[in-house]
Amino acid sequence: MADLTILGSVNLDVVLRVASLPRPGETVSATGSDHYLGGKGANQAVAAARSGVNLEFYACLGDDEDGAWLISELEVLSVPSGDIEKLPSMRSGRAYICVDAAGENHIVVDAGANAQLKVVPPKRADAKVVLSQLETPIETTLAYCASLAGSNTTAVLNAAPAILRARDDLFHVMNIIVMNESELAFYAEIESLPEDIEDITRIARTLLSRADQVIIVTCGAAGALVISRNHLHVTPARRTKARDTTGSGDCFCGTLCARLAMGDQLDAAMQYASIAASLSVEKDGAAASMPSREDVELIIFEMESEEVP
Ligand code: RIB
Ligand code: NA
Repeated sequence: MADLTILGSVNLDVVLRVASLPRPGETVSATGSDHYLGGKGANQAVAAARSGVNLEFYACLGDDEDGAWLISELEVLSVPSGDIEKLPSMRSGRAYICVDAAGENHIVVDAGANAQLKVVPPKRADAKVVLSQLETPIETTLAYCASLAGSNTTAVLNAAPAILRARDDLFHVMNIIVMNESELAFYAEIESLPEDIEDITRIARTLLSRADQVIIVTCGAAGALVISRNHLHVTPARRTKARDTTGSGDCFCGTLCARLAMGDQLDAAMQYASIAASLSVEKDGAAASMPSREDVELIIFEMESEEVP
């Protein structure tokens, strides 16, 4: 029996390093290239597994060379592969990613088999937390999470990549919705990014559809906010030097849910997740950059020792 269930995508990330990201119509030369295990679901599953949680991961791959390699990478990174389906005559998902010198990226995703993910909702919800994102069908996530109503399972959605239909059809079945500032602006249908914490809080509250719902907004170096109707909590970010930010949001979501499933209160899980995400940006790749529980606990220990006068 798993404490954390993840439904989500697996992609082969084709990464090109560039000095600066190409503008429309511009051609730039890569300074290096590589391929990695990626996809928001897989990245979150790896981040969670490395935190030591007992998890299950539902995903779809193609019956191709990419798929075979991606499964072996997941297994190396301790993600159970028993619930990953290989679909005949389908391609595995791919993401084409440019990363610039400052670690910022552009991503184009070709869904492939991810678009076919179907998971039969459980008769009895056992997991403490269920986590999904928006690179797999909304209908599958909706049916699964709707079946959890009345159980003690916490349904968490990482509302990325931003798809407006998710706000209208999926948000209402979620206990916790995680998004970044640009996704927040997208879902609230406002042109510019929110300016400060008050602004973010006010806008996020317009998206809450239930009294017991929480929206978490990740703001990079400015930290992460937990927003409910009557409550606001800010978790400051750890200072770091970004090398590749690909998958840092996934690291945050995967570790947050792992810690919640392991019994942490939300504020403690937020601190763990924001430190984990800060460590992930220091390394190349998405899934490959997820820190272990020991890595994160060492930083928490150092921070706590610094606080003692
Ligand atoms: O969130 C990062 C992920 O988004 C990458 O690994 C890529 O596969 C895209 O899906
Ligand atoms: Na990274």
